[in-house]
Amino acid sequence: MRLDGKIAIVTGGAMGQGAGISRAFVAEGARVVIADVAKDAGQELADSLGEAAHFAHHDVSDQASWTALVEDTNARFGPVNVLANNAGILRFGEIENMPVDEVELLWRVNQLGCFLGMNAVTYTMRKNGGGSIINASSVEGLAGMPGCTAYAATKWAIRGMTKCAAMELGPKGIRVNSVHPGMIDTPMTRVHGGDAAMEYGASKVPLRRVGTPADVAPLYVFLASDESSYINGAEIAIDGGVTATHAFGG
Ligand SMILES: NC(=O)c1ccc[n+]([C@@H]2O[C@H](COP(=O)([O-])OP(=O)(O)OC[C@H]3O[C@@H](n4cnc5c(N)ncnc54)[C@H](O)[C@@H]3O)[C@@H](O)[C@H]2O)c1
Repeated sequence: MRLDGKIAIVTGGAMGQGAGISRAFVAEGARVVIADVAKDAGQELADSLGEAAHFAHHDVSDQASWTALVEDTNARFGPVNVLANNAGILRFGEIENMPVDEVELLWRVNQLGCFLGMNAVTYTMRKNGGGSIINASSVEGLAGMPGCTAYAATKWAIRGMTKCAAMELGPKGIRVNSVHPGMIDTPMTRVHGGDAAMEYGASKVPLRRVGTPADVAPLYVFLASDESSYINGAEIAIDGGVTATHAFGG
């Protein structure tokens, strides 16, 4: 069991990549709190995973919600030592037309939510022998895409915060890394065009397919485990090769 003894919080753990991460963490021996605003899906997943999983209703953009989540996790399973800061939302919009409240919502959930997560677990982790924080950025945190400025801003911020956090928290025994998925087949992407969007996306990928939550989860397992004990401040693309080229390469 690669995650024996690990106590993990997976935000956005009810659906998509977060559900894949939660399943993989439990399969590798971790105890997992699935933290999400989606009550029914989160509860159903936790029930299906048995005693090693628990669902907590949690909004990553709310600091009080984080305090309660970490206290509850510590009391239920023991001191949290893995945080998968995975929750996120996607909105497209051109700079000229994008409503400011949409921009602010993206910032609150994706960027502030990631910061609050790191803020909330640091005390417990440093007092209990360290931990691993895995922040979900994106290929939109490595390069640009039209119609994606507000979302990409949050993902570049997560990449930047990860570097700062890795330097600040490394001496305290806490590793912080960012993952950069390409197009992954989840409710987030399906809502923007279904099968046709997946086929179009696949045509742009050197591996000629979009990714799945099952492709992404093993990277989280690796970063959560002690196998990655010397990896800190890294940014790891998991994108079938889409960021392997420059603009003229495809
Ligand atoms: N799907 C992709 O192609 C893709 C690519 C790159 C990066 N990402 C990033 O990966 C992460 C997971 O994305 P996904 O594709 O699984 O998305 P998804 O929409 O399928 O799942 C996201 C989960 O986050 C939850 N969530 C939303 N707002 C929340 C909040 N305020 N508090 C707590 N939970 C909240 C949702 O309920 C849902 O369960 C996100 O950070 C996303 O930006 C996704």
